[in-house]
Amino acid sequence: MKKVVTLGQFIVKKQEDFPYATGELSNLLSALRLASKIVSREVNKAGLVDDIRGASGVTNIQGETQMKLDDYANMEFINSMMAQEEICGMASEEDDDIIVFDTEEGHNGKYVLLIDPLDGSSNINVNVSIGTIFSIYRRVSPVGTKAVLEDFFQKGREQVAAGYVVYGSSTMMVFTTGNGVNGFTYDSSIGTFCLSHPNMQMPVDGSIYSVNEGNYRYFSDGVKKYIKYCQEEDEGRPYAARYIGSLVADFHRNLIKGGIYFYPASGMSPKGKLRLLYENNPLAFIAEQAGGMATDGRQAILDLQPTELHERCPLFIGSKNMVEKVHEFIALYDGDA
Ligand code: AHG
Ligand code: MN
Ligand code: MN
Repeated sequence: MKKVVTLGQFIVKKQEDFPYATGELSNLLSALRLASKIVSREVNKAGLVDDIRGASGVTNIQGETQMKLDDYANMEFINSMMAQEEICGMASEEDDDIIVFDTEEGHNGKYVLLIDPLDGSSNINVNVSIGTIFSIYRRVSPVGTKAVLEDFFQKGREQVAAGYVVYGSSTMMVFTTGNGVNGFTYDSSIGTFCLSHPNMQMPVDGSIYSVNEGNYRYFSDGVKKYIKYCQEEDEGRPYAARYIGSLVADFHRNLIKGGIYFYPASGMSPKGKLRLLYENNPLAFIAEQAGGMATDGRQAILDLQPTELHERCPLFIGSKNMVEKVHEFIALYDGDA
């Protein structure tokens, strides 16, 4: 019989690989694992329980109506981090400002966490995959003091861990600590994440493109021409168009099958839609760790210097050859703009 490795065992084993590790990061990942299980349970009930279904009516800083499950997931992840002394502060898509944990309550840890607690929230009510995205940094301010904005304004390259949970036909957690990418599938009958996708590699090429083509008329010439290239009949093209509308789910499919996801700048939203700190950076770290690529159309996402907590930037992410190809089009047709 094949040996089953649980996420818990994997975390302990990996900690042994780092002789100087104190176990703080392992504790954090374990806390995220538990919170994900709770959110997964609530997501699975979403079609059944009226109480957690539908918009709560509150509008978040992005101007979007929050669904109740967004609130629930946000609260669950904040509460789970509050119980962890390793974390001195966190930032969430659903909160305007950073959440600073009280040093008097023992929060003297060296890490900060950024999170999109529920990604793809427009898909909650229609039984389509949604997700959670997280990113962890070592703080830059001194341990023992209160967390400050600078702790969160680090380049994506500085991430110590990043991951996502996809609540799909099964729940999966995929993460990296900078040493490859591993995926764990949740077995709800035993309440355990089991290693199902060790050392994930993104295919260098793919035949899927994912973009909201409804916005086509607002895209730059380079992006428009690349979309036409995807649709031409030549050398394995046309590609298949697949767009779920949940970044986590679109990215997860492309990570496994190969493909490109892009949310470009457009006339309507000059910086695109997706958020650098808790959407683009964590997925870019995972993509690069799996041999893929992630850019804003010109520069690696992980090299961008953040200046605002909720800033947006264009995203082109996926199979390396496909991201390089779209770059050619952007360089050729969009100039240096
Ligand atoms: P969130 O639900 O966290 O606000 O993110 C939604 C994002 C992302 O998941 C998805 O790919 C994208 O928005 C879809 O946007 P469009 O509907 O504009 O295509
Ligand atoms: Mn999101
Ligand atoms: Mn969200």
